[in-house]
Amino acid sequence: AKAAYIIREPIAAAIGADIPIGSASGHMIVDMGGGTSEIAVISLGGIVANTSVRIGGNKYDTAIGEYIKKKYNLAIGERTAEDIKIKIGSAQFLPKEEKLFMDIKGRDMITGLPRTINVSSDDVTEALQNELQGLISAVKSVLYQTPPELSADIMDKGMVLSGGTSLLRNMDKLLAQATGVPAYVADDSLLCVARGTGIALENLESYKRSILSAK
Ligand SMILES: Nc1ncnc2c1ncn2[C@@H]1O[C@H](COP(=O)(O)OP(=O)(O)OP(=O)(O)O)[C@@H](O)[C@H]1O
Ligand SMILES: [Mg+2]
Repeated sequence: AKAAYIIREPIAAAIGADIPIGSASGHMIVDMGGGTSEIAVISLGGIVANTSVRIGGNKYDTAIGEYIKKKYNLAIGERTAEDIKIKIGSAQFLPKEEKLFMDIKGRDMITGLPRTINVSSDDVTEALQNELQGLISAVKSVLYQTPPELSADIMDKGMVLSGGTSLLRNMDKLLAQATGVPAYVADDSLLCVARGTGIALENLESYKRSILSAK
């Protein structure tokens, strides 16, 4: 019979981000996906402190849609909202010369007819304020739970961001400024969990402390 294993998402993300999770020092990973954000501090192959919040890219898209509805009286679809987020979205307000703009189409809420408007990166930053504040609080709550020795390690090495939502412009800067801990987006951050799961499966013996086996 085939054996089954369970690997927790932050552990997989950390392995996929090339974090040496087995070492005694503390590592922080913030995996931000579509549905949830999982924040964990890992040491000696295990999770020392963590939280998971239902804040992710899908909620960002909804928030953008609601903001545009309110401000411009324009209804847009979810795909359009995601498109705006990816093309011009920023977690922090961009400097004047760097602001981004985009024409989008939707349905006018008053006339019911199609209409095109021009939205800016500031619109997105504004729309995401609640979600971003929630994310910052969650990251801080994990830092508060972290034992002092490991906090010092995390301060030295910074937190590593993975998952698709970590690709939002300036997400690293926002988290670094809000917490005082440096933040870096992992290489190929969208693929960290899949890559980490693969590496763990191929090296079961070395990762056995970090994986649960399910019967
Ligand atoms: N360049 C980008 N900028 C901002 N967001 C992005 C970018 N690319 C992808 N995303 C968002 O990343 C999210 C998907 O990320 P990911 O694939 O890590 O999620 P998931 O693992 O499927 O979700 P979960 O971990 O919550 O189960 C989507 O909301 C998508 O809009
Ligand atoms: Mg994920």
